[in-house]
Amino acid sequence: MSRSTQETPIQQDDIIIRPAGNVTGSVRLPGDKSISHRYAMLGGLAEGTTRLRNFSTGADCASTLGAIESLGVVVRRGEAGMVEIEGSKWRASRTPLDCGNSGSTMRMLSGVLAGQPFTSELVGDDSLSRRPMARVIEPLIRMGARIEASAGARPPLRITGRPLQAINYSLPVASAQVKTAILFATLFAQGTTAVEEPVRTRDHGELALQAFGAELDRNANRVTMNGGQKLHAIEAAIPGDISSAAFFLCAAALFPGSNLVLDFVLMNPTRAALLDVLIGMGCRISVVNLEEHHGELVGSVRVEGAELKGTTISGALSAALIDELPVLAAIAPYTADGIEIRDARELRVKESDRIAAVARNLRAMGAIVEEREDGLRVPGNQQLHGAEVDSAGDHRIAMAFAVAALRATGDTLVHGAAAARISYPEFFTALDALVER
Ligand code: S3P
Repeated sequence: MSRSTQETPIQQDDIIIRPAGNVTGSVRLPGDKSISHRYAMLGGLAEGTTRLRNFSTGADCASTLGAIESLGVVVRRGEAGMVEIEGSKWRASRTPLDCGNSGSTMRMLSGVLAGQPFTSELVGDDSLSRRPMARVIEPLIRMGARIEASAGARPPLRITGRPLQAINYSLPVASAQVKTAILFATLFAQGTTAVEEPVRTRDHGELALQAFGAELDRNANRVTMNGGQKLHAIEAAIPGDISSAAFFLCAAALFPGSNLVLDFVLMNPTRAALLDVLIGMGCRISVVNLEEHHGELVGSVRVEGAELKGTTISGALSAALIDELPVLAAIAPYTADGIEIRDARELRVKESDRIAAVARNLRAMGAIVEEREDGLRVPGNQQLHGAEVDSAGDHRIAMAFAVAALRATGDTLVHGAAAARISYPEFFTALDALVER
C-alpha cells in the first residue's frame, strides 16, 4: 500500500492497494465503537469518575466525547485510548452539538437530551444530515420530549427536554441505536419502559446500563426498565472492535495460507455472527481466552484462510451482520458459489447507500453483481481486476474495498480512503503490517 503523488487523480485522501498474499501475525484492535459511545455517555451521567482504557480511536467516538464536553462534562484524554470522564449534571451547550458523521452520537444522545431541562441542537455532516431520524424522534416525543427536525425528519434536531413518561414501544425498524436511546431516556422518566424489537439487535445498551448500576429485565426481544435510576462510574478496558476486526478476518479468509490472531476482541454473541458465517464458508476459526468484562464477552480469535464456499444471508442474520455486510459482499467474487444478501434494506440508509456503493465498486473491478432493493447477489468464481473505486465518504466501504483489492490483479486506487478514520484511523497501517507481499 502506498500513498502516491505520481498520478494526477490521486488526492491526499486516496490510497493505492497492491495485490498481496497471506495475512499473518497478530493485531490488537482499538476499542469497540458501539461500546465506547455508550460508556462515554453513561460515564458523563454517572456519579464519580469513569476511567476507560482502549477507547475507540475513531472520529465518531471523538464526536461523542466532544458533544458531552459541550454539555459541561469534564473529559480527560490520555495515552493508549485512556479516557477519564467526570460524571456531572449536564448544562445547555452554547453551540450546536456537532455529531460529525456519527448516527450513534446523534440518536443515542437524543435519548439523554430528551430528559434534560434545556434545549439542544444536534447537527451532523452531509452524510448524517441525510439520515432518517423519525425512528428516534417518534418514541422520544411519545415520552414527552419536544423535538423539531428538518424536512423528512432529517437533522439538524432541536430537542427540548421535558419531564418524561416511560413507554411501551415496539420498534418498527430493528435498531440498537434507537433501543438504546429509549433506554437512556428512561433514566429520566417516570414509570417502567418496555421496548420490544422485531429481531435481536446488539445489546450493548442493556449491558452498559447494567455495568453502570442500572437494573433492567430482558426476555427474548423485550427489555423492561424502571425510570429514574442512578448510575455509578466504572473502570473498564474496552474490548477490540469486532466490526473493525471483520476486515482482517475477511482479508485472512481470502488466502488459504493465512494465519491471523486478533487479541482481546469483542465476542458478544449479538456481534460475532461473522465468525459462524466464515466457518460455514470453510475457514478454520478458534476462539480462546474467553473472559467477561462488565457483561461483555471478550476473547482471542485465530483465523486460517480457505478456498471459500459461498453463502446466503437473510432475515435476522442480516440485521446481526449489518456492519459486516459490505466487506462480505466485497469478497464474494472470490468465493466458489457467490454470496446473496437479502433483508438488508437498512444498508441503504447508513453512512452511504452501501448497497449501491458496493455494487458500483465491484462492477468497477470487473464483477457481475445483481443489485436488489434490499440487498445484492454476487456470483462466485469471479477474478477482480485493480480499478478506481470510491468510498462514497463511508469508512466501511473504504476498508471493504481495500480488502477486495488484496486478491485483485493489478493495483486498486481507493478514492476517499481516509474515511476509515471514522471508525479505525490505523486501519491501512495495520493491514500493511499483516499482509505478505
Ligand atoms: C449501532 C447500531 C447499528 C450499527 C451502527 C452502530 C449501535 O445501527 O449499524 O454502526 O452502536 O447501536 P442501527 O441502530 O441503525 O441498526
